[in-house]
Amino acid sequence: MSRKRILFDTDPGVDDAMALLLALASPELEVVGVTTVFGNSTVEATTRNALNLLHFAGRTDIPVARGAARPMVLPLDRTAEHVHGEDAMGNIGWHALLHPDLKPIDRPAAQFIAATIMAHPGEITLVAVGPLTNVALALQLEPRLVHAVREVVIMGGTVSTPGNVSPVAEANLYADPHAAAVVFNAGLPLTMVGLDVTMQVKMDDSHFARLRQAGRFGQFVAQIVPFYQEAHRRRYGYPNGQIDTHDPSAMAYAIAPSLFAGERWSMTVVTDGPARGMTIADRRRRFLNTPAAYCLMHVDAPRVAQLITERLAAAGA
Ligand code: BDR
Ligand code: CA
Repeated sequence: MSRKRILFDTDPGVDDAMALLLALASPELEVVGVTTVFGNSTVEATTRNALNLLHFAGRTDIPVARGAARPMVLPLDRTAEHVHGEDAMGNIGWHALLHPDLKPIDRPAAQFIAATIMAHPGEITLVAVGPLTNVALALQLEPRLVHAVREVVIMGGTVSTPGNVSPVAEANLYADPHAAAVVFNAGLPLTMVGLDVTMQVKMDDSHFARLRQAGRFGQFVAQIVPFYQEAHRRRYGYPNGQIDTHDPSAMAYAIAPSLFAGERWSMTVVTDGPARGMTIADRRRRFLNTPAAYCLMHVDAPRVAQLITERLAAAGA
């Protein structure tokens, strides 16, 4: 089986950590690089967490490129430590690097993304699960990316599910709506793994009890998740330690696309005002002539939760 080559753009983040470990635990994928962005916390913290996660996983061979510290146009006005913890890793005390030799490569994320994709035309799948700033900057540096990238899979946006940071917006697109507009307007082979599916795929105490008894990856996820579970209980009143599996569901799509289904619609992203970060899909196929994205709308939710749990449970045993 030839493995799908993944560049992972991320703002770890509890669910980002789950997605990265899921990718590393999956034989269908080969992670060729990790790029970091502000989002769930500052880019200093998300870069530290990415480096620590790869160290924990024994994969310091994978390069980490540090990316944007703020949105393209707007000031940085929101991070999400209230959801992911002060260390953005569920308050496990990751306030420093786990090893003094850990460091990002010298190239900034946008340059690294552009160079990696252009060096392997048609081969790289970019999975982006944070604000889209690095991806937009990479497109500005190298517009030919549009044709050179195999697929861009984003966790972000929503077609018909209410927003999670405003009535209409999902957090990653709200965080940098101008970057999101660049990405949606570029004409990329773009798949949107939005709240329409990621809020259907729940994991709960039963999954995490299993992971607590499993190998190292599973135990680690069981350790970082309680703060995130509590944030979901406070925000949505979810029972039984339920969480939404945003970023791991996006990675699950890269692993097993047949567990999902969607539609291609022309899209536009709102950059300003009360609908900041809203993704508008032309579901009647009449009103927009903007580039289309493949928007996932249906998912075999129990099987995706099972895939995530089984892969994490088996890894690092
Ligand atoms: C997205 O926002 C971040 O908090 C999560 O890591 C995920 O990427 C969900 O809206
Ligand atoms: Ca994320």
